[in-house]
Amino acid sequence: MDAERLRRYLEFYQDLGIKTLYRRPGIGGQGPGAGGQGPGIVEQGAGAGESLFDILTDIGDCRRCRLHEGRTKIVFGVGNEHAPLVFVGEGPGADEDAQGIPFVGRAGQLLTQMIENTAKKEGIPLRREDVYICNVVKCRPPENRTPEADEMEICGQFLNRQLAAIQPKAICVLGGTAVRALLGQKEGVTKLRGRWFRWRDIPVMVTYHPSYLLRAYNVEPKREAWEDLKKLLHFVYD
Ligand code: URA
Repeated sequence: MDAERLRRYLEFYQDLGIKTLYRRPGIGGQGPGAGGQGPGIVEQGAGAGESLFDILTDIGDCRRCRLHEGRTKIVFGVGNEHAPLVFVGEGPGADEDAQGIPFVGRAGQLLTQMIENTAKKEGIPLRREDVYICNVVKCRPPENRTPEADEMEICGQFLNRQLAAIQPKAICVLGGTAVRALLGQKEGVTKLRGRWFRWRDIPVMVTYHPSYLLRAYNVEPKREAWEDLKKLLHFVYD
């Protein structure tokens, strides 16, 4: 990569809130498979030991699926590259597409509150920037529709690589799309929430997507989501 492109990538990465970058020499984004397949999306071409920066570089100005046609910005992920906890949503909405940062709209504000308020109540010093937040697809689907199978398959490779690079202690899967992508489960979130699963060797907690919780009538799911988060935060931070 030439110096100018590298400078632009670094700037982009810093805009996402990533303050520390690690570049491991000799490992490119196109390296040989890291081995091991996720139960959801089948792995392709992840370089062993790669960093988030390597993955972002590989994504580049992505045109691998039709979602690139309507996007303003690629929404890669935000937060601590070494976070022990990663939240995975579905895909960017309008606010995220405009800013290039996941979960900054109404659902995102609810997610932030849920993380920070639950942690505070439980006596865990934790801010949004301490965790890592990303989505299954990195470009906004038109009209906020659910990502299609091929889009999830193509973009899910990058999600798998992000998780493999971060190696968190646990993953929180938000809603049905992320459940299908990471766990390959067809069952609804209502059945799966509050339970532990595994993505490779990493424990996964399933809970409701914050957009679902924003619907006024969803009082009980809201209470359940707080329970799920409590369980998750104690597992990760106790
Ligand atoms: N919904 C998601 O799934 N992800 C976002 O980033 C925002 C809303």
